[in-house]
Amino acid sequence: MSRAWNFSAGPATLPEPVLRRAQSDMLEWRDAGASIVEISHRGPEFLEVAADAERALRTLLSIPEDYAVLFTQGGATTQQALIPLNFAAPGQPADYVVTGHWGKTALKQAGPYVATNIAASSEADRFRTIPARNSWKLAADSAYVHITANETIHGVEFRDIPDTGNVPLVADFSSSIASEPLDISKFGILYAGAQKNLGPVGISVVIVRRDLLERAGQPRADIFDYRSQLKAESMLNTPPTWNWYMLGLTVQWMLDEGGVAEFAKRNARKAALLYAAIDDSNGFYKNDIDPAVRSRMNVPFFLRDEALDKPFLAEAKDAGLIALKGHRVLGGMRASIYNAMPEQGVQALADFMRAFAKRHG
Ligand SMILES: Cc1ncc(COP(=O)(O)O)c(C=O)c1O
Repeated sequence: MSRAWNFSAGPATLPEPVLRRAQSDMLEWRDAGASIVEISHRGPEFLEVAADAERALRTLLSIPEDYAVLFTQGGATTQQALIPLNFAAPGQPADYVVTGHWGKTALKQAGPYVATNIAASSEADRFRTIPARNSWKLAADSAYVHITANETIHGVEFRDIPDTGNVPLVADFSSSIASEPLDISKFGILYAGAQKNLGPVGISVVIVRRDLLERAGQPRADIFDYRSQLKAESMLNTPPTWNWYMLGLTVQWMLDEGGVAEFAKRNARKAALLYAAIDDSNGFYKNDIDPAVRSRMNVPFFLRDEALDKPFLAEAKDAGLIALKGHRVLGGMRASIYNAMPEQGVQALADFMRAFAKRHG
């Protein structure tokens, strides 16, 4: 077996111990006589897996008791539509701070349900910065302020939690959840698709301050109602049991490795390695994001000579480094270096980049 260093933005590399554990559990879950994906979600075996996953996530992220945790389907994009439905009155204003592709997506998904207000946008600056809090123009009577904590494609990341006063802050943490310690109490709602830092694709996590669930929101089917989902313990219908189980394993792995404080240190070192390989290349590689808000999870970069893109990707693959092609929105390259990417993998990439620049520069 030869597993490459996988820099995919998501679905992304998973910790090898998690994959091995899942492999060994695959045929039979404890003494259930069947695997974890072949048994009822209502049975005691799966209920224990689900409860353990929530407990582990609460411990990992230090989620306060007055926050509910939902395990949902439909990915992060679906939450972007469900959030206005659940937390805003029809046509009520809601603020969106647009700092990249995913901020735009959130805005689009909310469009049919609320009076979206672009409180700030860095689009004119090609999403290379994050607009300062004091430049935001918030709407009166806003239901919430939505931000994208980390822009997976554009590679910018909020480094401070903006203060929105009494208006709940809603944050898409899909690509940076659990990457560092976070004060959850500063947020009204956090949500994340699992497929970057929490496990395989197919399940999302919504962390919501319980008092917000008392908002009437808008007419919606029960299945789109976070309150109903909470009451049903995220099992209003058949949940993605395999993904829930894998999320639990991944979160437990992060706890075993030392938790978010440890990952913050590793992530800072990994990002520093990679940005140094770019910045020290005399312009061979370029990342022109404001250094103060460069993402530590997703590092987009461009080769000065686009004609070298193909050889770069081909030679990287030969060197055991895969999924470095940039998102089609931006082109160029992108290295996603989530919690499960070891420092050794990032070092291998930085070494490769230096050697490639020497060969082709
Ligand atoms: C920050 C962010 N938000 C939302 C999404 C969309 O997630 P999903 O495909 O789970 O709907 C992504 C996907 O990459 C993302 O990176």
